[in-house]
Amino acid sequence: MPDAHSWADIDLQALQHNLGRAREFAPGKRVCAVIKANAYGHGVHAIAEALLPVLNDGDCVAVATLNEALALRQTLEHLQSKTPVLVLRGPLDITELEALVQGGFHWVMHSKYQAELLKGWLDAHSAAKKPILNIWLKINTGMNRLGLRVDDLQPIWSWLQSLDAPGERVLMSHFATADEHDHALAKTQQQTFAQITDNLSGARTRSLSASAGIVCWPDAHHSIVRPGIMLYGASPMVDAEAAKYGLKPVMSLKSRLLTINQVKAGDTVGYGATYHCKEDMPVGVIGIGYGDGYPRHAPSGTPVLIYAQGKVWEAPLAGRVSMDMLTVDLRGIPASPGDEVLLWGQSWGSELPADRIARHAGTIAYELFCQVTSRVKFIYR
Ligand SMILES: Cc1ncc(COP(=O)(O)O)c(C=O)c1O
Repeated sequence: MPDAHSWADIDLQALQHNLGRAREFAPGKRVCAVIKANAYGHGVHAIAEALLPVLNDGDCVAVATLNEALALRQTLEHLQSKTPVLVLRGPLDITELEALVQGGFHWVMHSKYQAELLKGWLDAHSAAKKPILNIWLKINTGMNRLGLRVDDLQPIWSWLQSLDAPGERVLMSHFATADEHDHALAKTQQQTFAQITDNLSGARTRSLSASAGIVCWPDAHHSIVRPGIMLYGASPMVDAEAAKYGLKPVMSLKSRLLTINQVKAGDTVGYGATYHCKEDMPVGVIGIGYGDGYPRHAPSGTPVLIYAQGKVWEAPLAGRVSMDMLTVDLRGIPASPGDEVLLWGQSWGSELPADRIARHAGTIAYELFCQVTSRVKFIYR
């Protein structure tokens, strides 16, 4: 088979290193590694397999939906792993609830509606063997997305505590603004979560922090931390690059130069004729576009790295990204067709952080990773 025109090198050692960084930021805490959305676009099966050797007893992995959990369970069974799987969205109806409970999954209960579903299901199955209930009760502390209101929490918590069913019960919440240093809402959420959970009776296993909380809010680490984006080597904080936190990029998205055009002064490049050549100049055409997941909104000026004649060169995008190609300004760069290009990640001893590309494109690295399409060949190392 011919070489792919665009591919993603996935560095599994970097992934393991990044999990180690999470542990260094939150020493002694249990880890729930977040691998939803196909492990943020990195390929959930390979990512799960690479994480298993660096997970400890008491750690788990999290996905968003039941379908993700069922697929991941197959991988874990194949690997003979009993690592618990947490389903962050919890059940939407009785069928999903039954699948979660009978599958032995951990799941988030974030609404009164789900508590009612569980009550109904337990009533209907009262004669059966005691079910194992691994429930993470989610509290709304200010995100106003998923989570129980404080008034609803107390009775549901007491009821869960009173159930004669083995399994883990965790109290959790999620930050809205932990990625901004010193944000007032994050401080309020942290205090609210501590106060509310301190006032609940019984043993309290607590979980509040995702990646940003892990690197920046040590008082919010509690019992279990839930790293996502930091595992993949992008920055959890809006105003800092990942290297600041000792994180290494896991995905390196690459392609090749297809051709080089000598374009005349006054001519334009690409769809919409948005890029105007001020002088005669070489324009390189690279074999990757939004059909591969490169962001169409990346404007002219967004950098790529090109490896040409044994050196690394930075070239800016020139003109709109199209479905299968993008064009770059090659002035001063001795490149030739076939040369390798790095769109984000690291290669040849140089790094082009996905966060930097995301900023140019007006998005976040999370979205860049998730949008890489199946046309890109994934190579795991
Ligand atoms: C509930 C929950 N915990 C943890 C995470 C991981 O977040 P991050 O990728 O910012 O570390 C997410 C991601 O959206 C989440 O929804």
